[in-house]
Amino acid sequence: MPHLFIDKIKKIKFPIKSGDVEFLFKVDDLIACKVENKTFFISVRKKGDKYLLKYDKITRPVSSLLKKAYKEFINLTNANILTSNVEGIKDKVSNTQEYMLTINDKFNFDKEIIVEIGFGSGTHLLHLAKTYPDKIIIGIEIHKPSIEQILRRIKHENITNIRIIDYDGRLVLSKINSNKVHSIYVHFPIPWDKKPHRRVISKYFINESIRVLKKDGFLHLRTDSDNYFEYSFNEFMNLNQNELKIYKNRNLEVVSKYESRWKKMEKNIYDIFMISNDISKDLDEKFDFTFGCLDATKAERKAYLFDEFVIHFERIEKIDEENYLLKVTMGAFERPEHLYIIAGKKSYYFNKPIEHKLNQKVHDTLKGILKCQKS
Ligand SMILES: C[S@@+](CC[C@H](N)C(=O)[O-])C[C@H]1O[C@@H](n2cnc3c(N)ncnc32)[C@H](O)[C@@H]1O
Repeated sequence: MPHLFIDKIKKIKFPIKSGDVEFLFKVDDLIACKVENKTFFISVRKKGDKYLLKYDKITRPVSSLLKKAYKEFINLTNANILTSNVEGIKDKVSNTQEYMLTINDKFNFDKEIIVEIGFGSGTHLLHLAKTYPDKIIIGIEIHKPSIEQILRRIKHENITNIRIIDYDGRLVLSKINSNKVHSIYVHFPIPWDKKPHRRVISKYFINESIRVLKKDGFLHLRTDSDNYFEYSFNEFMNLNQNELKIYKNRNLEVVSKYESRWKKMEKNIYDIFMISNDISKDLDEKFDFTFGCLDATKAERKAYLFDEFVIHFERIEKIDEENYLLKVTMGAFERPEHLYIIAGKKSYYFNKPIEHKLNQKVHDTLKGILKCQKS
């Protein structure tokens, strides 16, 4: 994880701007940053006689913006870097932002889309980009070093049709309009034998895939796990109408490092192709994710359970006399989102939830729980 140790920090009065970075406020270890209209937190904690500067996993800043925030914070505090695993922190920040998407961006592309979830070393993602120069390839990954690695290659090889997003792949499809996707690849997903609710393939995911796939578009699952193959096959078969193609030990044009390891061990490899035969309805939904006044003192540090979803206030911190920072896990039980809310007279999401029907219900419920008393 990109982090560094510095020798000192000095007291800073917030808000303050340095270079391109606005430092908005500080709560406990969290410092709210705004760079190029994107907001995220960095965290500063004392460790012995030094300070650990690291990124916040929930707001997931893209690396070029994170580096800018680190640099400006170090500038402001006149600190020296003691140790760092942030590549190029001392050099000019290289701009890879243009290849990144964040979850609150609009996913409106005029070209057809291909999606790969959990691209790892990116061998297959790069292959897709070269095979389909006329399409936009969206690569989804949650492992920062893999993201850094692919960004360097995209820049080095001057590839223009890949976009990377650092987010849970189970949630990203709901950002995409219906019938826009040529194909979806899920190659060697983590089998999660002991935590099946974390699997990428689920009934929800299959239905979302069918919605975003164009007619004749396909979802390709490739796995070396007998268990995962069986589980996924059953999930696909549970749907009413569905066309599936199954293969065993079929070679692809490219082999990732991960796959070659299994091949050497002569493990079986299974492919499931699910072909979409329908044109899905457009998402024609209107959402309202605004708050107005929220009374954070009504929030209890616990999970509020409802039939379809959970709202869990995990952290409740006072920012100033009027505002609180709430760290909330909310949404469907098996794939909730982690969010920050600034609660006060003019409340807002510091990082927004994905706009879809269930989240609208969750939002409205949360608004009800923290409703301000009319004065
Ligand atoms: C076993 S590796 C396979 C990597 C690559 N597809 C390959 O074939 O070599 C699984 C990858 O999925 C990523 N991953 C796991 N869960 C994910 C999720 N919910 N969303 C996006 N990526 C995920 C992991 O970080 C890891 O890089």
